[in-house]
Amino acid sequence: MQNKSIEISASCCLVGVKDPKRRLFDGLIALPEGTSYNSYLVFGNKKLALIDTVNPGFEKKLVRNINAVAKLKNLDYLIMNHAEPDHASAIPYIFLQNGKVKLVTSLMGGEMAKRFYNIPQERIMIVKDQERLDLGGKTLRFIEAPMLHWPETMFTYLEEEKVLFSCDFFGAHMSSAVFDNEAFNLEYHAQRYYGEIMMPFRPMAKRAMEKIADLPIAVIAPSHGPIYKDPPRILEQYKKWVVGETKKKVLLVYLSMWGSSKKMIEAMTKVLTEQKIEFVCYDLTASDIGDIAKDLVDARALVFAAPTVLGELHPVASFAANLVKTLKPPLKHAVFMSSCGWAGGAGKNFKEITAALSLDLVKELEIKGPPTAEDLEAVKSAGLALIGKLSAESEI
Ligand code: FEO
Repeated sequence: MQNKSIEISASCCLVGVKDPKRRLFDGLIALPEGTSYNSYLVFGNKKLALIDTVNPGFEKKLVRNINAVAKLKNLDYLIMNHAEPDHASAIPYIFLQNGKVKLVTSLMGGEMAKRFYNIPQERIMIVKDQERLDLGGKTLRFIEAPMLHWPETMFTYLEEEKVLFSCDFFGAHMSSAVFDNEAFNLEYHAQRYYGEIMMPFRPMAKRAMEKIADLPIAVIAPSHGPIYKDPPRILEQYKKWVVGETKKKVLLVYLSMWGSSKKMIEAMTKVLTEQKIEFVCYDLTASDIGDIAKDLVDARALVFAAPTVLGELHPVASFAANLVKTLKPPLKHAVFMSSCGWAGGAGKNFKEITAALSLDLVKELEIKGPPTAEDLEAVKSAGLALIGKLSAESEI
């Protein structure tokens, strides 16, 4: 049995489960290290509370973990910070075995609990922003933090021990470590997770960060991945990310059918290397889109190269361009490069797809067939123009 009595603070322990074999989330996001569904028990002198539950299929493991340190029948409150099934789907299973436990959640969370999980109204306790729940010597405070990344989301704060239960916020899809000081490459996973899940909701994430700015926090206990005993480690990252702070960094994404787009990308990376500009480059036929999401978090410029096929932007590149648009990164500049056999069109598609991002399109190059020496010179000029823009800007 995993995590059966891992202490988070004096009155709180982890009873969630690890899912190291999971490889995909939302049918979209690769999970190279699996994930965890962190669920927490908080013991007051009078009341016992469970904070969030677990993914479908792990209900029995959760109950075993609870019963290893307490008795499920003694549970008084089930706090639902977020209604998504990876944290809330075990609620009906818990309710079947405990006829008195109340679901504690936000107003919208209550509606979702009824719709998603058939929880009856009389078993739901709606809490407002900053409302407190006394467990006997321990106090839970609820902090509304909507649209992170669903509308009902909230945080729970254990006042006496300064533990912030943030659910998805500050999470990372990792299963290997319980605490931040045990996690290998945590920053990589946390940034990847932020890019995929929270970046599209940057204004709301910024508001949430402002809301907790003065909260004394000793431990951040998210519902995926490591628990932070060193909260500044993740707070300092989020402070930069939620305001869209970028680096003088170029993200190159390409797809090549016959090598022409690849040659243009190589010419571009040569310029960036010569000018000592930080860059990362992904071949869409062999890359994990989670890595692209990670680098979208702090890249200031995008170089996108892909051919026209069947009169349109190559469909895989079209997917990638749509992903960039959907994740709403803080990119400022772009260069688009393309090759076609006889008639173009890819550039038009790329601009249509990314229009909402209002990117400064420094250069659009559409060539026919393999790039000539002149074409490669044009790529170099585009690279230098892009570098000129980056160099003229401050680090934010
Ligand atoms: Fe981890 Fe939005 O669920």
